[in-house]
Amino acid sequence: MRKIKIFDTTLRDGEQSPGASMNIGEKLMLAKQLARLGVDIIEAGFAISSIGDFEAIKTIGNEVEGPIICSLARAKEEDIKRAWEAVKNAPKKRIHTFHSTSDIHLKYQFRVSREEALKRSIEMVKLARSFVKDVEFSPMDATRTDINYLCEVVEAVIDAGASTVNIPDTVGYSIAAEFGAMIKTIRDKVKNIDKAVISVHCHNDLGLASSNSLAAVLNGAGQIECTINGIGERAGNCSMEEVVMALRTRRDIFNADTNINTEEIMKSSKLVTKITGISVQPNKAIVGANAFAHESGIHQDGLLKEKTTYEIIRPESVGLHSTKLVLGKHSGRHAFKTRLKELGYDLTSDELNNAFEQFKRLADQKKDIFDEDISALITEEVTKVPEIYSLVDLSITSGLKQKPNATVKLKVGEEVIDRMEYGDGPVDATYKAIAAITKAKSSLLKFEVKAITGGTDALGEVMVSLEEGGRSVRGHGADTDIIVASAKAYINALNKLAVSSKQRDSLS
Ligand code: KIV
Ligand code: ZN
Repeated sequence: MRKIKIFDTTLRDGEQSPGASMNIGEKLMLAKQLARLGVDIIEAGFAISSIGDFEAIKTIGNEVEGPIICSLARAKEEDIKRAWEAVKNAPKKRIHTFHSTSDIHLKYQFRVSREEALKRSIEMVKLARSFVKDVEFSPMDATRTDINYLCEVVEAVIDAGASTVNIPDTVGYSIAAEFGAMIKTIRDKVKNIDKAVISVHCHNDLGLASSNSLAAVLNGAGQIECTINGIGERAGNCSMEEVVMALRTRRDIFNADTNINTEEIMKSSKLVTKITGISVQPNKAIVGANAFAHESGIHQDGLLKEKTTYEIIRPESVGLHSTKLVLGKHSGRHAFKTRLKELGYDLTSDELNNAFEQFKRLADQKKDIFDEDISALITEEVTKVPEIYSLVDLSITSGLKQKPNATVKLKVGEEVIDRMEYGDGPVDATYKAIAAITKAKSSLLKFEVKAITGGTDALGEVMVSLEEGGRSVRGHGADTDIIVASAKAYINALNKLAVSSKQRDSLS
């Protein structure tokens, strides 16, 4: 049975989804989950693109054990040196460099000849190899590249030292039969192909990214580049959960599997949604809310008699379990810590102390605490940024015959300021009061409220997206009172904006 490597690019190509940028704390939390999931390689970012990306790759390299940590780099000297600086402390590291090869890109975007592109690719692979043994090269827009030239580039970069050659369908243009045939041609024509792993990187513009990647596996690809929930540039990337479960479910066809611990799939999917604010469509394969829901009476009848009549994947195998009651008011620190361990959270002692305090506060408001409640608390704790603004108090008045108003008391640095504002509803009034105190100039792009578990005492979770001067951030807040959760989410986003304007550090 062949082992197909899973190269996860949620933190790099996934982060290129509109509005999906993540801070270092969020990236680290996700990288730790990717390690639990068992991915082979984490593309942790594009080191030269910003100080934030550089620091995130470095931190992940220092703190995340298991997978190879990789940085993207254009085929440019400064990019490759920066990528090396970012990954050099990781126990297992890779540099992934790329250059376009299609005539469309070379002629209109880069204005270089095929010969120049080839020469630069070879030189930059050699430079990357002078730092690290594990070098990956991607001929960008491969699927619109002349096949003979593509084979020439692939052969030359392998000679220059690339140990993985990644064939990207950058614009999601290919279809499965064609893409599979392209991989076969590369295998047949490139003389030194046995010295490298063939990887594929498919975009989903025609909704074909997963089937194209699987066609490539059937034709000899040994690595799939993908993202959790398929997030990524435009229509996204190949979805990790789809290809992994297709390989597992149809081993009879592929005779191949991955190292993925599939029971971690749902948790990874939910974490990505929580961190990026990008929800999964209900009918999304594997991780959508309806993926295992059977509505038809005929199907339900079959399932009751024998599960395999209508179920090709056991829901438990992707980590879907019925909601579990875990803790309550009387649970102590030890029980809390044990449950966190079982859920896979590995917190510092400060984070643990704060999370336990939040848990106790929640247990006073809510009788039963579920795993989902704990995950919400931990996400809030781990993704926290230094607080310039913090909520001291909030009271609202609203009703059918009353103009809603909110009085908010905020700590701003050392000062406590309060303000009362009217609004169209209690959230609007609260946001107006907060904006007046903080003199916020940002605009609200998105506001989402959801109940984390069932019941009227459920923890409400609010996600907001703010934009100011071209920068956008997301804020989260959770509380049994949704107005308080809304205030917390807005303040969290304002704190993120304040922190990021302090470190306005973009290099390019
Ligand atoms: O889609 C693409 O071509 C890429 C490359 C950088 C691999 O993301
Ligand atoms: Zn891509």
